[in-house]
Amino acid sequence: MPTVSEIMQTMEYGPSVEDSSAVRHWLKANPKFGHFINGSFTKPGEGFDTSDPATGTVLARISQGTAEDVDAAVKAARRAQPKWAGLPGHERAKYLYAIARTIQKRERFLSVLESMDNGKPIRESRDADIPLVVRHFYHHAGWAELMADEFPGHSAIGVAGQIIPWNFPLLMLAWKIAPAIAAGNTVVLKPAEYTSLTALAFAEICQEVGLPKGVVNIVTGDGETGAAIVASDVDKIAFTGSTEVGRAIRAATAGTGKRLTLELGGKSPFIVMEDADLDAAVEGVVDSIWFNQGQVCCAGSRILVAEAVAERFEALLQRRLATLRVGPPLDKSTDVGAIVDPVQKDRILNLTALAVSAGADLIGGAPRETCFIAPGYLRQVSPANPAWSEEIFGPIATLTTFRTADEAISLANNSRYGLAAQIWSESATVATDLAASVKAGVVWINGANMFDAAAPFGGMRESGYGREGGRVGMLDYLNGPKLPEAKEKASPTPKAVLDGASAGGGIDRTEKLYIGGAQKRPDGGASYRAASGDLVPLGNRKDIRNAVEAAKKATKWAAMGGHARAQVLYFIAENLSQRRDDLAKKHGAKPVDAAIERLFYYAAWADKYDGLNVQTKPNYLVNVIPEAFGTIGIVCPNDAPLLGFISLVAPAIAMGNTVVVIPAQDDPVAAFDLAQVFDTSDLPGGVVNIVSGPKDELAQVLAQHDDVAALWFCGVEGAAAVEKASTGNLKPVWSFANRDWSKPVGQGRSYLDHAVQWKTVWLPYGA
Ligand code: NAI
Repeated sequence: MPTVSEIMQTMEYGPSVEDSSAVRHWLKANPKFGHFINGSFTKPGEGFDTSDPATGTVLARISQGTAEDVDAAVKAARRAQPKWAGLPGHERAKYLYAIARTIQKRERFLSVLESMDNGKPIRESRDADIPLVVRHFYHHAGWAELMADEFPGHSAIGVAGQIIPWNFPLLMLAWKIAPAIAAGNTVVLKPAEYTSLTALAFAEICQEVGLPKGVVNIVTGDGETGAAIVASDVDKIAFTGSTEVGRAIRAATAGTGKRLTLELGGKSPFIVMEDADLDAAVEGVVDSIWFNQGQVCCAGSRILVAEAVAERFEALLQRRLATLRVGPPLDKSTDVGAIVDPVQKDRILNLTALAVSAGADLIGGAPRETCFIAPGYLRQVSPANPAWSEEIFGPIATLTTFRTADEAISLANNSRYGLAAQIWSESATVATDLAASVKAGVVWINGANMFDAAAPFGGMRESGYGREGGRVGMLDYLNGPKLPEAKEKASPTPKAVLDGASAGGGIDRTEKLYIGGAQKRPDGGASYRAASGDLVPLGNRKDIRNAVEAAKKATKWAAMGGHARAQVLYFIAENLSQRRDDLAKKHGAKPVDAAIERLFYYAAWADKYDGLNVQTKPNYLVNVIPEAFGTIGIVCPNDAPLLGFISLVAPAIAMGNTVVVIPAQDDPVAAFDLAQVFDTSDLPGGVVNIVSGPKDELAQVLAQHDDVAALWFCGVEGAAAVEKASTGNLKPVWSFANRDWSKPVGQGRSYLDHAVQWKTVWLPYGA
């Protein structure tokens, strides 16, 4: 230890280590942990050690959950659920409130335990993680209280299986458990194998506040235990972790009817414009990629800096980098602690070495003893470098320069991920323009890594789907109001013979596909005979690809705004009513009249499906904005050829999406008749594209297509196959039972809920 006079000379910080005696005492009393099932701890079973990554010291022994343990936990949760959901919201709120209070009282204990098990600096666990945990339980106590008023007619989903990672162990637990139990679900949660201890301390808190048995169950273990939860009798899986495991979970849950939310990896852009406050942006880097040793899914790991200021920015960045203190997590002056485990440390070093061998320069980033790595960044990283696209998940950013705002956006969006983005510019116009163009679920303007229980968090693209936090997050733990006519109705199995029939001699009166606003002969040149006897085009994989290409180009539609889109929908309704008698003869009067009404209904909604402005921290305006997905693939029911088609297409396009539609296989003629109406109604070409043919085969192509951002699939049979095929770009698939489209269940806000993804934009305001 240096003497006082030495400290005075060097002006180095002396050590200021947080007292860990209470935690050590607790660990001594609990050298081995069982699971927390039905309100009590089970006898510890076979398991593994959990260690302090800073020192390598074993902290405790954790049980490896077996399929039987998972089963017992799910059964306990199932038993407890009806009673828990049946409690008045106020009663549930009191438990969440008691949990929040108790955690608040234990803040120091939990912070120290978290830092010891995970390696994160105590400054972060004490000032960021644990206060946010408390905030989550308070905020969601509020939602439990207000359930009846704010979510009328909604009900809990049932039992939620929740699997969380190791980067924010207790915080991720809070993000999962607080909304789930507030909504009346019960849970089986598995912490990550490196960091189970705060979850087990949380189980003790559940006991202490007298939470009814079975409402929260905690089963520890590794990926196998996680897979057992996915396979178990739960109603929903909520997962945060790697994209790879997210894909495996999507495949495993395909066709099971389990609800699924995935919060996966990221490679988030950190854009520094020419007019940015560079000092503030440098602090932003510290908070973004060097926070929590860079083990943050939404870290601004790709720094994109305007060429004009790059030199100045890098000089400031390197100066700041030199001041960061890497050291013992429990030291209050440590900025960068230990990586969670030697396996992760190796992974970071390997990826960094790969980036260097591909031509990048590494500044800083040297490995140190045990699990430490100094923070750093890679310069000269082009999109061809593996570090551009691979999540390093360590304290190493990449840095790339750009010349124009357009180039910044195209670089930012050159990623399969879409979790977060940070934008630095002193111009409100520039910053908000970029915020609107970037593909990300969360955007921070002149800020980084800000979180709040009221601000929905979650990704787009391969960063997953679903949101955590706020009103929008609550909806992921609720079923919507049930309508009496919502009873399942089978979608009749197609009977049309897909024989590639030809029109024979004379004038070819075969219907054409509708792609890019024009009639198109199918690629294979073949037709089939619909149930009505008409010859209809037999589309194939190539036609779907052409249709997606056309849909992708119709970007003007989203940019037009709700009011202009409403005008087009009204115009379609008007033209449809002009052709009413003619179409009523062919397709029945009732469906045509109902379709006209439905178009009016969604035209009304086009400029009224609003976002929210939520209250988070003072001095931030946090807007939660509904955005179109881009291109949605729609697979229509096989009956209701006209009304089923309009009931799905109208809400999707009202929200600004373009669509590729597979109409009723047996009777696609109604869809092509509607296309003629679209043509005379100012609907821009490419907004609606129609490819008829073998429904299941074409649906597979849509499900696998990277440029199809979401898929709606009507029908129960066949849902498993499309859900499985969607794992490629992890598009959200909404598969739903067929219904009576003439009833109120055939329209409503819930269709719009599936037509948008939420973007949370944080703006400094009034500071
Ligand atoms: P992981 O995705 O394997 O682990 C996350 C959680 O999933 C853990 O609780 C784990 O036990 C569980 N799990 C693993 N396999 C499973 C399966 N087949 N079914 C169900 N649950 C399963 O992440 P890992 O291996 O710890 O880290 C590897 C990389 O993943 C990191 O380097 C990072 O790039 C990324 N990652 C991203 C996170 C994020 O927040 N987006 C969090 C953790 C890791």
